[in-house]
Amino acid sequence: MTKDEAKKRIAELSEVIDNHNYKYYVLAKPSISDYDFDMLMNELIALEKEFPEFALPTSPTQRVGGDITKEFPLVKHRYPMLSLANSYNRDEIIEFIQRIEKTIEEPVEFVCELKFDGVSISLTYENGVLVRAVTRGDGTQGDEVTANIKTIHSIPLKLRGDYPDFLEMRGEVIMPHDSFDKVNAERDDLGLPLFANPRNATAGTIKLQDSKEAARRRLDNFCYYMMMDNLPYTTHYQSLMAAKEWGFNISPYIKVCKNIDEIESFINHWDVQRKNLPFDIDGIVIKVNSFAQHEELGMTAKSPRWAIAYKFKAEQVSTKLLSIDFQVGRHGTITPVANLEPVQLAGTTVKRATLNNADFIRQLGLHYDDTVKVEKGGEIIPKIVGIDLEKRKTDSREVQFITKCPECGATLVQNEGEAAWYCPNSMGCPPQIKGRIEHFISRKAMNIESLGEGKVEVIFDNHLLNNYADLYDLTYDQLYGLEKTETFIDESSLFPETVTRKVSFKEKTVNNILNSLIKSREVPFARVLYALGIREVGETTAKVIANKMGNIDNIINASLEELQEINTVGETIAQSIRSFFDDERNIQIINRLKAFGLQFSQEKKVSSENQVLAGKTIVVSGVFANFSRDGIKQKIEDLGGKNSSSISSKTDFVVAGEKMGPEKLKKAQALGIKIIDEKEFIKMISVISTEHRTQ
Ligand code: IVH
Repeated sequence: MTKDEAKKRIAELSEVIDNHNYKYYVLAKPSISDYDFDMLMNELIALEKEFPEFALPTSPTQRVGGDITKEFPLVKHRYPMLSLANSYNRDEIIEFIQRIEKTIEEPVEFVCELKFDGVSISLTYENGVLVRAVTRGDGTQGDEVTANIKTIHSIPLKLRGDYPDFLEMRGEVIMPHDSFDKVNAERDDLGLPLFANPRNATAGTIKLQDSKEAARRRLDNFCYYMMMDNLPYTTHYQSLMAAKEWGFNISPYIKVCKNIDEIESFINHWDVQRKNLPFDIDGIVIKVNSFAQHEELGMTAKSPRWAIAYKFKAEQVSTKLLSIDFQVGRHGTITPVANLEPVQLAGTTVKRATLNNADFIRQLGLHYDDTVKVEKGGEIIPKIVGIDLEKRKTDSREVQFITKCPECGATLVQNEGEAAWYCPNSMGCPPQIKGRIEHFISRKAMNIESLGEGKVEVIFDNHLLNNYADLYDLTYDQLYGLEKTETFIDESSLFPETVTRKVSFKEKTVNNILNSLIKSREVPFARVLYALGIREVGETTAKVIANKMGNIDNIINASLEELQEINTVGETIAQSIRSFFDDERNIQIINRLKAFGLQFSQEKKVSSENQVLAGKTIVVSGVFANFSRDGIKQKIEDLGGKNSSSISSKTDFVVAGEKMGPEKLKKAQALGIKIIDEKEFIKMISVISTEHRTQ
């Protein structure tokens, strides 16, 4: 074969095989036998081996794997990968719909989809070619696992038809039951530990270093959400149908529903029929269909307000309640935990289950020695959902909730309107102190790695720590020689046994601890704020607050109202922040941390743009053509203005988009506040913005 002939044949075979792949894996309508397909593939593999210079970058031979990945680089997502709020019954779905109908006046259509039980993935296509596949990770950044993902036949390596220049596709990688059974049977033969469920097997496969092995395990994929700038579709359903044309595997089990009855019948159908699917699903996802409505509804810090997951009821077993522990969390919350007679459930042995709080135990009517029904959905901690009353002994006693803290003896308290009991002795109760310090040093907070693995406990037990500021007072002499007890299984002896030994803090350990404490002074303000462990202030919220407020004193001095003006900070978060800083002891700790040189300020994101809105308090309402809702608010901040969620006499003007809320309109008119439309706003700021839709 001449070079020219080889080049032509390689291109021809690549295209033919690609088409067969599409027909088989996406359309489920194969048009050749497996044998003939394998023949074409073998011919292509042989030709590419002989003429590697002609192998196309998107060649279907990549499905066979071969690339070895030593490390999976961390990649930042262009659009964050959010998760979904969960619901478990009809009432919660009705609440979800009612919440939407409060914001949106026109009729709302919903798209019901299967909730695939696998691992979510983000696929990036540039000029129609798959360039990157990244796992969800923490939602902001994930691992790049492209080599393994390319082995999945239902994921297009190159797109077909009239695709856009840039596209990000979100979907779920799953392991179908037949692949799972095969993988586990092989592992059993080899004496390897079995995967507990297809989801775990999928996660393990995606992170394999050897993509050939990943290819052998036959993963599959469904795509369920498309993202790009200036999306040319008006509905989610339309975008999925376009994606199907471009070669993505879109689930055929999708339905556009108009009301709760249609949604409910979709749920009920799949609750039964899921047993007949060749892969696991753990629920149904319900999404608002219209993109304009997505914009209007916006999102919380973690999930969009336009979608919800309905989770199916999980598998159940019965077992005996042996005893109850009362655990004290870092915020002082008492969590009752049941110790159970070990029982197999959804692939794992269950020994403990959470009992949530006193109300939960009372509502359950739990007695000591009861036989309880335990449920587990996926990786969630198992929970007790009922009692087998027939097995209850006649003389059994009702479980009593404790009134004193099991750790420090303080009398427990309950906050108004909350079910949980707390130990109020926050500064003197050991697990609370330890819990706060452990949170403070954790990876996403101050990242003081060398203090992990139980070392905080040892230092605390030696009475050297009362709070996290004490960490920075620790000296070499105090730490050197501290002893820690380690328990491990000694495999080296003929009869492996559990061994307990004492390990003391040596020079290297102590120096590592002290050095990493010094290094932690460089940790940026947002993470220091998160590290303080304020109730309700997670990583994302801390970042938003730090950006907006610039330094700790601005936060300490902010009123409840001022705090609530920050995007994503609602009443509960604002109250929690206030009560943290109203406690003089926390201020003292912060003053000590300041003296140690931790970062308590950051440059406010000052915009280079002209501050034309400086000093103006603005309310935005409705949907905009050139901005997303968060986008217009950001623009206002960038130009020096202040966003407010409600109209008052302090409001300078309202920017009204399409479908401005009628209540807001009434109030603005009553107070005589100026209302401008989007065009006027753009003229005012003298920029034609090309904001785009972000998730
Ligand atoms: S939509 C912003 N649709 O469920 C919307 N997710 O907790 C992004 N999932 O992380 C998700 N099937 O891994 C969507 N049909 C479906 C899904 C689905 C499974 C997973 C996904 C997501 C998690 C939500």
